[in-house]
Amino acid sequence: MRMAKRMLVVSMLAILCLADARTEEFFYNRTCPNAETIVRDVVTSHFRNNRTIPAALLRLFFHDCFVEGCDGSLLLDASADGAVIEKQALPNNNSARGFEVIDDAKARLESTCPGVVSCADILALAARDSVVLTGAPFFVMPTGRFDGRISNRTLAEAALPSPFDSATRLKDSFARQNLTVQDLVHLSGAHTIGQSQCQFFSPRLYNFSNTGVPDPTLNATYRAELQQACPRNANATNRVALDRGSEFVVDNSYYRNLVAGRGLLRSDQELTLDSETESIVRSFAGDENRFQLRFRRSLLKMGELRIKTSANGEIRRNCRRVNPRNTIIVTTTNGDDAAASTI
Ligand code: HEM
Repeated sequence: MRMAKRMLVVSMLAILCLADARTEEFFYNRTCPNAETIVRDVVTSHFRNNRTIPAALLRLFFHDCFVEGCDGSLLLDASADGAVIEKQALPNNNSARGFEVIDDAKARLESTCPGVVSCADILALAARDSVVLTGAPFFVMPTGRFDGRISNRTLAEAALPSPFDSATRLKDSFARQNLTVQDLVHLSGAHTIGQSQCQFFSPRLYNFSNTGVPDPTLNATYRAELQQACPRNANATNRVALDRGSEFVVDNSYYRNLVAGRGLLRSDQELTLDSETESIVRSFAGDENRFQLRFRRSLLKMGELRIKTSANGEIRRNCRRVNPRNTIIVTTTNGDDAAASTI
C-alpha cells in the first residue's frame, strides 16, 4: 500500500514536472560555467575548416525539435536491438550531417563537467552559434533540456515536411507542432544558408508534378542555371545553394530570391503562392531587420518544443547512445530520490 502511494506521488510529481517543462537562460552558469564557451569554440573551429558546417547544425536542430521535441533524439545511433532510428528516416538518411561537431563538443564537456550538459542543449547552442557565426545578431539560447531515449524512423517521417509539399501541407505540418503560419515563413528563412541535393528539386526542372514540363513558377534564367547544375542524368546528390548568391550569410536575400521566382525547393517557392505566407515573404524581402528579429523569435519558439525534464529524460554521457541503465530517478521536493521509474 505504502509503495503504491509512493508511486502515485512520483507519478504526480512527474506530471507536474512535465507540465512545467521549460528552459532558462544560462541554465549551466553554476553547474558548468564554461559550457556555452566550449560549444562555441568547437563550432567555430569546425566552421574554420568547413564553412558549410553552420547550415548542417541549424538543420539538425530543426530535425531534432520536430520529432519528439528538442531532446537530442536525432543524435542517437542504432542500438543492438536493430530498431530503425531517426537518422535512417528519408529526410535524414545521407542528408543530415554535422554529428561529429556535437560529438566533439560533448567530449570536451564530459571532461570538464561530466554528466551535466545535455546533448539536446549542445545542439541548441550549436544552432544558435551557427546563425551568429554566419551573420545573425547575437541572442541568448535558453538551456535546460534533457535528452530523450527514443529514436524512431516512422515518427520522423511523419513529422518532417517534404521539399515537394504544397503551402497547405507545410502549414499543416507546422500546425502539428503548434507552430503558426508565421513561424513557417520565418523558419523557412533558415534556407538563407546551406545547400540542397539535386534530387530534392530536380522534378521542378524537367517534369513538375508529372506534367512533363518544368515548374512554371521558376524564373527561366534560374531554371537554366539549375538545369546545368543538375542535368537530367546527373548524380542526384550534387548540391546547389538554397539561397542563390548568398549561401553563407544569414540575411533576407532568401526572400528576395523567392519574390523573383528563385526559390530552390518547391516548398520554398510555395511560400509566394499562398496569400497568407506571400505577404510575409514580401515584407521580409524589403526589411532585413524585421526578418532577423522574427527568425530569431521563431527559432527560440521551435527550441521550446516538448522539452524533457529529469522526469522523462536524462543527461546522456554519449550523444549517440542512451545511458546504460533503463531507469530514471525522480527527486522529491525534500531532495530524496523517491523511486526509480522505468520508461
Ligand atoms: C518548411 C519546410 C522545410 C523543408 C521541406 C525543408 C527541406 C530541406 C531540404 C530537402 C534540404 C536539402 C537537404 C539535402 O540536400 O541534403 C534542406 C536543407 C536545409 N534546411 Fe530545410 N526544410 C524546411 C525547413 C527548414 C527549417 C525550419 C530549418 C531550420 C530552422 C531548415 C534548415 C535547413 C538548412 C540550414 C539546410 C541546409 C543544410 C546543409 O547545407 O547541409 N529547413 N531543407
